[in-house]
Amino acid sequence: MSYVLGVDLGTSAVKVSAVDRQGNIVAQESFDYELSNPKPGYSEQNPEDWVSGTTVAIVRLILNDGIKPEEIEGISYSGQMHGLVLLDENNQVLRPAILWNDTRTTKQREEIIDKMGERYIEITRNQPLEGFTLPKILWVKENEPSIFARAKTFLLPKDYLRYRMTGKIAMEYSDAAGTVLLDVAKKEWSQEVCDTFDLPISLCPPLIESIGYAGNISDSYALFSGMSETTKVFGGAADNAAGAVGAGILAPNMVMASIGTSGVVLKYEDNSDVDYQGKLHFFNHAIPDKFYTMGVTLAAGYSLSWLKKTFGPTDDFTEFVSSAAKSKVGANGLVFTPYIVGERTPYADADIRGSFIGIDGTDTRADFIRAVLEGIVFSFADIMDIFEEKGQSFDTVVSIGGGAKSPLWLQIQADIFNRKVVSLKNEQGPGLGAAMLAAVGMGWFDSVQDCAKQFVEFGQEYEPNPENVTKYQEMHNIYKQVYGATADISHQLLDYRRRV
Ligand code: XUL
Repeated sequence: MSYVLGVDLGTSAVKVSAVDRQGNIVAQESFDYELSNPKPGYSEQNPEDWVSGTTVAIVRLILNDGIKPEEIEGISYSGQMHGLVLLDENNQVLRPAILWNDTRTTKQREEIIDKMGERYIEITRNQPLEGFTLPKILWVKENEPSIFARAKTFLLPKDYLRYRMTGKIAMEYSDAAGTVLLDVAKKEWSQEVCDTFDLPISLCPPLIESIGYAGNISDSYALFSGMSETTKVFGGAADNAAGAVGAGILAPNMVMASIGTSGVVLKYEDNSDVDYQGKLHFFNHAIPDKFYTMGVTLAAGYSLSWLKKTFGPTDDFTEFVSSAAKSKVGANGLVFTPYIVGERTPYADADIRGSFIGIDGTDTRADFIRAVLEGIVFSFADIMDIFEEKGQSFDTVVSIGGGAKSPLWLQIQADIFNRKVVSLKNEQGPGLGAAMLAAVGMGWFDSVQDCAKQFVEFGQEYEPNPENVTKYQEMHNIYKQVYGATADISHQLLDYRRRV
């Protein structure tokens, strides 16, 4: 038998999947690691934990699941994005990695906007959000100058892991775009951005494609892990890009709607012509010379789990969600905005908070549950409206994560998006996408699209119901007014909450 491994390097755990040539996941092992929050807003991890966690998972695949090292032909990665790993001249890690969900960098973010304004968005195609990597580099430069003085290069989480397995330094494009130091359309590091912030361009590592060959497993890593030096290693992708590959988002008519703790709406883009002016993230895709656009709802699944934890802690989750069917389309006129931890798209506002608007004395628990399911989907529809404003058409939405587990929620998505919504038959997330990149890198398939035909299977389709579509259009128009009408009140309330 021959296999490829897909390594899904997440924020709380790493999951490694062994996949055969038919796309079957024959074995899967995972390992959890710690997240450290040394101060409020700080989120760090020890890169060594990624290496040992991945190695334990691989050793388990070999020892417990009977995968023979010489049968592992290729390996590739999906990685949590944006995390800064600073290395010295001997490629030793200089400080704990600062992760994507660390928010200490507001000052640096503002400095980037002040110094470069629109020009910055023109080059990097993104706004410099706190979570992205450049603000983190500038934070270290300003706050830990002696560490910064020793920095020779930097990597992102899965690129560091790949370095430890191959001994070769490289960063892959879909992740490099999330550093917001890359000229995304030209696919090269931006000299202008580096010069503006007094960063030597030599800090930026060599770039490789997601399906690009990065080297073989090094002799030292083979000795450490039991893997074979014959295994070939490929670039991999940012978790959202790898997730899109695993969900078959490989043509311009397709959009992914992913409801995890946070929610992601992601659209495949054939070229870099469309200009979203930084309103959405615009990154290089895992498919060479293709791109994707992405908007994020910070509290998607989190809004529902908050509601359940607070108002139905002992209920069965599936029954809790299905009980929303007892309400009606539009939750009888009750609107929920899911801004309970702030929002990213379309309102980049960390201080906005959520609301239920229109509560009536006749409202039931089912109305509240339904309003939350609908509010999350309305926030996704806000992101899709930005695609439409730019004349970008699409006809299919692939739903993954929590939103794909409930037929009711899938139908709500079809009705609010007014598009066909499909789920996946055997959803495997970004780890499958990572394995697909290795399979294409190995030459098992001519392209990622060809591989998807074999590896990705779509499940049930949900068509929009015209009567519901009309009702939801009316409710979405009302929903859209809530942010503007409540932002000031919401900011005052948060200020009060912080003071008491
Ligand atoms: C994307 C982002 C998250 C991380 C999570 O911009 O910050 O989706 O990639 O791993």
